[in-house]
Amino acid sequence: MRLLVCGGAGFIGSTFVELRVREHGDAVTVLDRLTYAGRPENLREVRDEIRFVQGAIEDPAAVADAVAGAEAIVNFAAETHVDRSIAEPFAFSVTNGQGTHVLLEAARERSLRYVQVSTDEVYGSIESGSFTEASPLAPSSPYSATKTGADLLVCSYFHTYGLETAVCRGSNNYGPRQYPEKLIPLMILNALAGDHLPVYGDGRNVRNWLHVEDFSRGIGHVLAHGIPGETYNCGGPDECENVDVVKRIVALTGADESLIEYVTDRPGHDRRYSLLSEKLQGLGWTARMRFDDGLEQTVRWYTENAWWWEPIRSGAYRDYYERHYGRALKA
Ligand code: NAD
Ligand code: TYD
Repeated sequence: MRLLVCGGAGFIGSTFVELRVREHGDAVTVLDRLTYAGRPENLREVRDEIRFVQGAIEDPAAVADAVAGAEAIVNFAAETHVDRSIAEPFAFSVTNGQGTHVLLEAARERSLRYVQVSTDEVYGSIESGSFTEASPLAPSSPYSATKTGADLLVCSYFHTYGLETAVCRGSNNYGPRQYPEKLIPLMILNALAGDHLPVYGDGRNVRNWLHVEDFSRGIGHVLAHGIPGETYNCGGPDECENVDVVKRIVALTGADESLIEYVTDRPGHDRRYSLLSEKLQGLGWTARMRFDDGLEQTVRWYTENAWWWEPIRSGAYRDYYERHYGRALKA
């Protein structure tokens, strides 16, 4: 296929692009603004096989340039971090809301298929059981609220204009190249540095962990086989309390458990996420990677790829860390 992949220089987008080029021979254009989370290095394995356009999805001129020749748009581009959305929410409305709208217009003008990459966080928190696609939408954070708005806009373009849309909602992803503001890479890098491991609240919040390659393949299934207008959950095979995730990382890195420090909880912190993915399984998708194996592989990747994260830990991330955690990172 000829694909426009928006946000393809980020964590999940770059994994998706690699898989599409390597396993499907797709012709891919990436449109990415290269925010703090987007890095050309993430695409280095396929650099010579794709077209790269630096630009924002909320900029119609950049979108018009990037979309030329595409048959479908897959949108990963977003502001993605809940903590940043609490501290500085406006960028989230612009990218996640307005940006999605500009892409939908570009798809409508050209009758392109459109896949929106979304999140389980649109459903809010669930104490027991799992969310299906029919569960009510009840987002808690500015991040999840703007993602919910985007999902609804996508559905409106199907109902109003007959655009061939689909939404794929993933649970918490982990794997190589995830920016270290998120739980797993943050804890791995801090553990390797002998730095504190800041667990929010009582550490008993539960996340439904999904390996990034499994999510990328799930999105590929939705692109190929999804029914227009439909939404598909894509949940990981395992759930885990945060403090257990951190203890496993401590064991895998050989760090000391005394590094674990319970810190002030995140405001509005969702207790538990859990997705039922039977609808996507009906399209032939299944998660291949169990959390134990994927976490071990991920720790190994960060241990062996300091070239990837050293520039991050020595750059603007230090200021973010100090602002957010109220203490400096170790050198
Ligand atoms: P990421 O933060 O690693 O990457 C986001 C990418 O989008 C970066 O390359 C960034 O430069 C780009 N971007 C940001 N604003 C842009 C703009 N205005 N115009 C163009 N590009 C812009 O995020 P990720 O973890 O790879 O998430 C990708 C998508 O998957 C997001 O839509 C997110 O909501 C969704 N998602 C993420 C997870 C997760 O656990 N990380 C789970 C489910 C769904
Ligand atoms: P995160 O990776 O930010 O993803 P999300 O908020 O989208 O689920 O956080 C995952 C879980 O880890 C969440 O319950 C918050 C918690 N957490 C910590 O306890 N400490 C941290 O330093 C971070 C970044 C997250």
